[in-house]
Order: sequence, then structure tokens, then C-alpha cells
Amino acid sequence: MGKFYSLLRKYNLKNNKASLPEWTSIYREEEPPVYWTVLKNILNRFPKNSTVFEIGSGAGDLVAMIHDFGFKKICGIELNKTLTKCANEKLEFLCGLKNAIQNNTYPVFIDQPDILIQVNCVYFENISTKKEYLKLIKSFYDNAVPKYFLLEVIDSKFKTHTNIFPKFVRLSKNDISKTFTNKTIESFPTYVYPKNTSSKTIYLIS
Ligand SMILES: C[S@@+](CC[C@H](N)C(=O)[O-])C[C@H]1O[C@@H](n2cnc3c(N)ncnc32)[C@H](O)[C@@H]1O
Repeated sequence: MGKFYSLLRKYNLKNNKASLPEWTSIYREEEPPVYWTVLKNILNRFPKNSTVFEIGSGAGDLVAMIHDFGFKKICGIELNKTLTKCANEKLEFLCGLKNAIQNNTYPVFIDQPDILIQVNCVYFENISTKKEYLKLIKSFYDNAVPKYFLLEVIDSKFKTHTNIFPKFVRLSKNDISKTFTNKTIESFPTYVYPKNTSSKTIYLIS
């Protein structure tokens, strides 16, 4: 991963634009974000010919990384037009992937992927309760019916007030288990407050 991350970082530094959102700067740092290693360790369990679909692909950095892990059948969706263009240019240049990211708002019809990924994408437009938020997450899963769902959420252990992450998006393992009944749930902490600005956990739902 080190060698590929250096290439990705170099590309991002060269193609940095003021119009890109602030969070894209994490992929210009010298070290890749913490969740990359966690994600790689989880993905290593699965056959490399698995199909992968990412919800909220942003500027394509995660798709690029997962492609580098060996998962070549990968694509994603991003609602922002500028980011989609940026992601597709990056993925073509670094990975040889053409139009891997569609510009649209999930859920839309997709072919059933083996692995559905929603990482670093806390989306809660028009939502104000935990019940509604969990329903939305479940609808994302039901739309794809994947074999495996890798979902990163803000952890309920994170108690500090911030408008970016209202209380209802902070979830516990119990919230996930109750939403995905009869599924196997495994949890993997990524960010931990106060070392990081919040606490996050990746769930593997299968
Ligand atoms: C913080 S970014 C992270 C991007 C990427 N997952 C990563 O880790 O680099 C989250 C992205 O999800 C996109 N997004 C949020 N909800 C979405 C939806 N329902 N459909 C498509 N894109 C969505 C946002 O526009 C944003 O670019």
C-alpha cells in the first residue's frame, strides 16, 4: 500500500483545486488515513474477484486504494458532479478504470455486488431521528442485497457535542444488530476520540 499511496498522494498534490472540499486533504497527508489499514485487513478475507460497489465515492481515493488491493471489479456512485469528474480522471490515470464512478444519488438500481461499502460517508439529509437514520442505512443495504456490507459509522461512545455529527447518527453495536437482524455483525474501531476528532467504527454485516 505504501508505494501506491505515494502515487495517489503525488497525484492529489498535483491536481489539488480550491473547489475540492476540505476533507479531500486527508489524501494529501504523508500517511494514509487510519481506516485504510482496517479496511485492507477486512477485505483480505474475500476473494479478489469479488464485485465491489462504494456508496459516496468522493474524489475516488478509496476506490483507487481498493483497486490497488487487488479488487479489479470495482465501481461506485457520487452525487457531486465535480467530485465524480475528479474521481473518474484519477481512476483512469492511476488504475486504468474508465467511468468507474457514476454521478447520481444512491439508492439507484445497481447490479447486486458481493461487497457494498459505505465508509467515511455519514449522510442524513432530511433526517432528524435515529430511527429514520437506521431505516435509511437499511434501505441502502436492501437496495443492493450484498453478501457483505462494510459500513462505517460514528460510534455512540463519542459524546462530545458537534453539529457535524448530531446524536442520532452516533450508533452502537446494538443499534446495528437490531437493524440487521439474523446477520452476523463484526465491529472494527477506526478513529478514537480524543486522539481523533471523533470515534468511528466499521461494521462488517454478513
Ligand atoms: C466524506 S466523502 C468520502 C468519500 C469517500 N468515501 C472517501 O472515503 O474518500 C462522502 C461523499 O459521499 C457523497 N454522498 C453522500 N451521500 C450520497 C448518496 N446518497 N449518493 C451518492 N453520494 C453520496 C458526498 O457527496 C461525499 O462526496
